[in-house]
Amino acid sequence: MDKKLRLLIPGPTPVPPQVSEAMARPMVGHRSKGFAELTARLTGKLQQIMQTTNPVFILTSSGTGGLEAAVANTVNPGDKVLALVAGKFGERFRDLARVYGAEVIELSFPWGQPVDVAAVKEQLDAHPDITVVLATLNETSTAVVHDIRGLGTLTRDHGAILAVDAVSGLGGVEIRPDEWGVDILVTASQKALMVPPGLALISVSDKAWELIAKCKSPRYYFSLEAARKSLAKWNTAYTPGVSLFFGLEAAADLILEEGLENVFARHRLLARATREAVKALGLKLLMPEECASPVVTAVLSPEGVAVDDLRKLLLDKYGVLYAGGQAELKGRVFRIAHMGYADRLDVISAIAALELALSELGYAVELGKGVAAAQKVFLGGAN
Ligand SMILES: Cc1ncc(COP(=O)(O)O)c(C=O)c1O
Repeated sequence: MDKKLRLLIPGPTPVPPQVSEAMARPMVGHRSKGFAELTARLTGKLQQIMQTTNPVFILTSSGTGGLEAAVANTVNPGDKVLALVAGKFGERFRDLARVYGAEVIELSFPWGQPVDVAAVKEQLDAHPDITVVLATLNETSTAVVHDIRGLGTLTRDHGAILAVDAVSGLGGVEIRPDEWGVDILVTASQKALMVPPGLALISVSDKAWELIAKCKSPRYYFSLEAARKSLAKWNTAYTPGVSLFFGLEAAADLILEEGLENVFARHRLLARATREAVKALGLKLLMPEECASPVVTAVLSPEGVAVDDLRKLLLDKYGVLYAGGQAELKGRVFRIAHMGYADRLDVISAIAALELALSELGYAVELGKGVAAAQKVFLGGAN
């Protein structure tokens, strides 16, 4: 028998059976009345999950397409864009702004640390002509959650819009765009939303529409005006990923049935149990706990253990897929996701496998110590 795969990477994440079942439905016409009704229902559900009254557009693309839509619709060549970079995905947003010809002011922070809001304020004060600030909610490469609320407080009083990459956060990490002043919020289907890859979601504020109306950069597939015109008829500009829409509605129902607050609390609990477990094994976290992600945990590889060997053993022998480090963190960290369709026993099995693999690689662990630490967190109740 093939090994049972335990997918513990921060996307794509495991898909609940209800979602797979919905996606297996027979095909329908994307211009049909039924599909328009689905789009209308789904938009309402997504607005609840994204905690916004702004329109939410569903683009058939991966998350990066959503990030490109954010930039292509707001950034003209020569515009001043402030890019906050503290990991691989902050770099990606910055690179997109460069591709669209922006004069990018890059504010970098050490990978594994949060964005310093005071430093952002200094830049905004020094450059009143910044038009767009690019930030990341959950920096997947470092497992750090950034202070989007703090950034929103700054951009609210400034001419700039705040565009947030919430690709790996949304649905697991709290974000309140309307309340916090987020103008463009981008996420994707394959992370905490528990749907296979292929959809990007993007919400847009009135302040952002003003910039979009003036933006001259070329865009076609990712034109937000085109998306807006179509959504007025509960439609999409181009053929959407119909089956993914079915799946997304099933996933949205699961999230709303559980209740957003409960979903966030579950993620916080799983994250805390994971952190306590790895610490009990004598391992160190990459990120400070105050800003640790609820959906993914980054662990420094212990002395004498090669991350690639650890991941290979975990996968080959136990069917457990952890993520490695990206870019400058390659070889230094491994990452364990607890994102989306994840529960307490997923954490227990992930940690049990880690204990086995570490001992097999010669790292001294007391078997069961990590598992017990996680169990204690669970017995302690909700976070
Ligand atoms: C924070 C963040 N932004 C953007 C992306 C890119 O999304 P995609 O791979 O769907 O294009 C990812 C994917 O891991 C991510 O974690």
